[in-house]
Amino acid sequence: MTSIGTPLSPHATKVMLLGSGELGKEVLIALQRLGVETIATDRYDNAPGQQVAHHARTIDMSDPVQLKALIEKERPDLVVPEIEAIATTTLEELEAAGTVRVIPNARAVRLTMDREGIRRLAAETLGLPTSPYVFCNSLQALQAAIDSKIGYPCIVKPVMSSSGKGQSKIAGPDEVSAAWDCAMAGGRVSHGRVIVEGFIDFDYEITQLTVRAVSPDGGANEKVETYFCDPIGHLQVHGDYVESWQPHPMHPAALQKSRDIAKSVTDNLGGQGLFGVELFVKGEDVWFSEVSPRPHDTGMVTLCTQWQNEFELHARAILGLPVNTALKSPGASAVIYGGVDATGIVFDGLAEALRVPHTDIRLFGKPESYVKRRMGVALAFDADVEVARTRARQAASLVRPRAPG
Ligand SMILES: Nc1ncnc2c1ncn2[C@@H]1O[C@H](COP(=O)(O)OP(=O)(O)O)[C@@H](O)[C@H]1O
Ligand SMILES: [Mg+2]
Repeated sequence: MTSIGTPLSPHATKVMLLGSGELGKEVLIALQRLGVETIATDRYDNAPGQQVAHHARTIDMSDPVQLKALIEKERPDLVVPEIEAIATTTLEELEAAGTVRVIPNARAVRLTMDREGIRRLAAETLGLPTSPYVFCNSLQALQAAIDSKIGYPCIVKPVMSSSGKGQSKIAGPDEVSAAWDCAMAGGRVSHGRVIVEGFIDFDYEITQLTVRAVSPDGGANEKVETYFCDPIGHLQVHGDYVESWQPHPMHPAALQKSRDIAKSVTDNLGGQGLFGVELFVKGEDVWFSEVSPRPHDTGMVTLCTQWQNEFELHARAILGLPVNTALKSPGASAVIYGGVDATGIVFDGLAEALRVPHTDIRLFGKPESYVKRRMGVALAFDADVEVARTRARQAASLVRPRAPG
């Protein structure tokens, strides 16, 4: 697709986002800038992306009937999943029938929707290095897997969850049952299944943003090529991202291994778009952890570090347009949490935050805040990535969310 119609006209190029949180919102903005007609779907009204799209739709995207009905009614050119909890069999069915194109494709969306599909693909089909792992359906099976194969310390996660929900690190036998209960409570649609992974004592972890897009020479020889962004370092607390920075300095051998792994996984998943490949690094050793076939939360740093941020790269790649993954400046991001459980909160301290040099702020506009809900992000750029990190943290800490009134 290299032509784009006029939005809200019969020849509009229509793109439907499935999931319209803070990442979807930026993809929608990038698409709007290219003159695409956008439909933002989420499970609740006034989701961040719904506030900037041409059309807002609220459905249960994990319900095959509702999802099929919506896609058939709207007839978008592209369906772009932003979240994992989607009725992926419906997407496979509609893709096979030629009703719609799914980004990057329905198979990749199915394989990455839970930890099992992608882990087995990476470790067993592609032979990539990962942590040792076992999938378990009961507390007894979990204990047996730890005793026979995984050992301590280890990490238990629901097969379907994100942002560290339901995830715990186990130091010894007396913590196993609590970890099982935590996974059962925190998984989205976990069906009582968990992965237990051996703990990797990494030096640092990165996200290797990887873009599959048409080559810039275009023309008759147009083919999909792989492009890499500079590595993004990040800090996770209880499995949730709190800070990221780019570039993360890496030993050339570790960087090469990271990119080889990223290429292997994304070649197999196929299609067009941006992927966030998560990797653990220790010295020159690299382990594959997981991959998002879409923009990654730690990649929000690219809003201030790249000529084309990860959302623009995704928009261009899926529309069949060429991309440029070059770095503009080193920089960092720091998460702004809700800090309160309340609806319609107010953010104080923005001017103070933005007085920190070379900073910017994104407030996502989520209608409801929780203490640990990600409500915004502070961005900072500087030639020195450590200075950028300090400033992003400082700006984030100066924003003070509060209950209204
Ligand atoms: N096997 C492991 N060894 C060490 N740390 C891990 C392991 N698995 C997860 N983690 C830590 O927890 C974070 C979240 O885990 P991840 O599998 O990416 O879950 P999510 O899908 O919620 O992002 C990782 O970024 C890493 O910091
Ligand atoms: Mg992750």
